[in-house]
Amino acid sequence: MEKIVILTGAGISAESGLSTFRDEGGLWAQHRIEDVATPEGFARDPDLVQDFYNARRVQAAQVQPNAAHQALARLQSEWPSEVVIVTQNVDSLHEAGGAENVIHMHGRLDGALCAACGHRWAAPPEMAVGEPCPACAEPTARPDVVWFGEMPYHMEEIYSHLSSASVFAAIGTSGQVYPAAAFVHEAQAAGAHTIEINLEPTMGTSGFDDRLVGKATETVPQWVNRLLQQKD
Ligand code: APR
Repeated sequence: MEKIVILTGAGISAESGLSTFRDEGGLWAQHRIEDVATPEGFARDPDLVQDFYNARRVQAAQVQPNAAHQALARLQSEWPSEVVIVTQNVDSLHEAGGAENVIHMHGRLDGALCAACGHRWAAPPEMAVGEPCPACAEPTARPDVVWFGEMPYHMEEIYSHLSSASVFAAIGTSGQVYPAAAFVHEAQAAGAHTIEINLEPTMGTSGFDDRLVGKATETVPQWVNRLLQQKD
């Protein structure tokens, strides 16, 4: 049976109440990327960066997974072969919706990282600048989130999944940030059937074999139901 690889972006969490980045009024309309999502920004003004992630961490802890997150968890449990969820999101709504082994290529808001020794631990709701690392005691704690200019996590594992995918879906992502934006080409090279599920066509839509346009809470359950009916 077919292995399904899914890439999700901020759009799958939009209906849970979390801002996306590039929609009207999104996070990149409220903050400059270079100030809050780069190592240089963190070095320049660590308080501003910690405040930015503290606000998102507190908000992410208050919202609930939506029908799209839950539909993907159902697909994972009912599909006879592997269903791999790779997310660009740093919220944990896939896990809250019942998904397992989610690959967070841009890190996670609920994780902290020591910039000195690489130790990782569960982030407190609000992180303060200069917090000592529990392992090496250096005052170098940062959010365990991948910033622009840094290498996304788990890339080898992700490319291995893409090379053996039969179906690839990109859900709620504008396809403007690499390497994630090129995953569809990797999957296609492996012979996968590719589908874009989004509120509206994106710049990359023409590169997909199929598309489902609409709100994720409607289109993702539709897509999952269609797949599960096919398997019987
Ligand atoms: N249902 C489906 N899709 C939606 C919905 C919805 N309810 N609301 C918004 N979308 C779509 C938008 O049409 C858009 O294509 O979600 C996408 C959100 O795009 P972005 O805001 O660019 O978010 P994303 O693609 O996840 O950004 C990728 O960029 O800034 C970095 O690290 C950050 O992980 C992020 C990466």
